[in-house]
Amino acid sequence: MIEEKKLKSGVIGWPVMHSLSPRLHQYWLKEYNINGSYEALEINPNEIHAFIKNLSSNGLIGANVTVPYKETAANIVDILDENSNRLGAINTIVVGKDGLLYGSNTDGFGFMENLKSNFPQWKPQNGPVVVLGAGGAARAITASLLDAKVLEIRLTNRTYKKAQNLVNKIGGSVKIYDWKNRSKILQDASLLINTTTLGMIGNPGLEIDLDLLPLDAVVMDIVYSPLKTRLLEQAEDRLNPFINGLGMLLHQARPGFHQWFGKNPEVTSKLQKHVLLGV
Ligand code: ATR
Repeated sequence: MIEEKKLKSGVIGWPVMHSLSPRLHQYWLKEYNINGSYEALEINPNEIHAFIKNLSSNGLIGANVTVPYKETAANIVDILDENSNRLGAINTIVVGKDGLLYGSNTDGFGFMENLKSNFPQWKPQNGPVVVLGAGGAARAITASLLDAKVLEIRLTNRTYKKAQNLVNKIGGSVKIYDWKNRSKILQDASLLINTTTLGMIGNPGLEIDLDLLPLDAVVMDIVYSPLKTRLLEQAEDRLNPFINGLGMLLHQARPGFHQWFGKNPEVTSKLQKHVLLGV
C-alpha cells in the first residue's frame, strides 16, 4: 500500500514562537481530518532568501509569512497577485503545480470578512470610515476599503509622512488628517478602526474622545491582546457595536489553508476559544 504523503506548511517569522497560526491551522487539520502539518518556522535573516526559494525542496507546499518578512518575501516569490503587488507585502505563499512560488496578501480579506460576518448591516455606502495608523496592517485594510467602494476614507497617523506614503503606494481617494485631530474627524463616520499598536499589552493606550462618533458606528480594534482594549471599552460604554482583532487573524488564514489543503475552513466560536485558550 502506498502511504499518502503528508502535506506540510507553516508560518515563517523571526521570532515566531508567539504566533497563534500553528494552533489555528492544526485545529482545522484535525477538524477536517487532513493528513497535513503546520509548524512555526523560525528563520534567521541570513537564511530567509534561500529558505523561501527552496520551500518546495524543503518539503513544504506553501507557508504563511509574518513579521518581519512580509516585504522581503514579496521580493522573493515568483508571482504576486494584483493586491499584494500593490501592497508590496505578502503573508501567504503557495507552491504552484508549475513549481513557481505564488504570493498573496490576505490581511485585507481577513479584515473585511471579520467585519461583514459580525456586522452584516454595515455597508460601504453607510458613511465615512476613519483609519488610525499607517503601518502594514493599515495599508492592507485601507486597500480593502477602497476595493469595497467606501466613498470616504479618513486616514490619520502620528507620523504624517507615513500616511502620505501609504496613499501614494495604494492610490485611491483617501483624505489625510493630523494625528492631533483624530477625535474631531469622527463626525458622520460609519466605522472607526484602530490599526496602531496603541492599546496592545506592553504599549501605551490609545487616547481618543468618541463624543462625535455616531452611536451606530462600528468600532474595530485590530489588537486582540487584550481582547478588550480601552477603545473597545469606550465603545461599549456608549453602546456602539464593537469588535476586536481576533476574527481578522482567523479569517486571514482561510485562503492559505484552502489553497494548501483543499478545504475552505470555517471560523467558529469553538475555534476562537481553542486559539485563545488551547481547549
Ligand atoms: P503593523 O505592520 O502591524 O501595522 P507597524 O508598521 O509597526 O505595524 O505600524 C504601527 C502603527 O502604530 C503605526 O501607524 C505607528 O505610527 P507611526 O507611523 O507614527 O510610527 C503607530 N504607533 C505606534 N506607536 C505609537 C504611539 N505611541 N503613538 C501613535 N501611534 C503609534
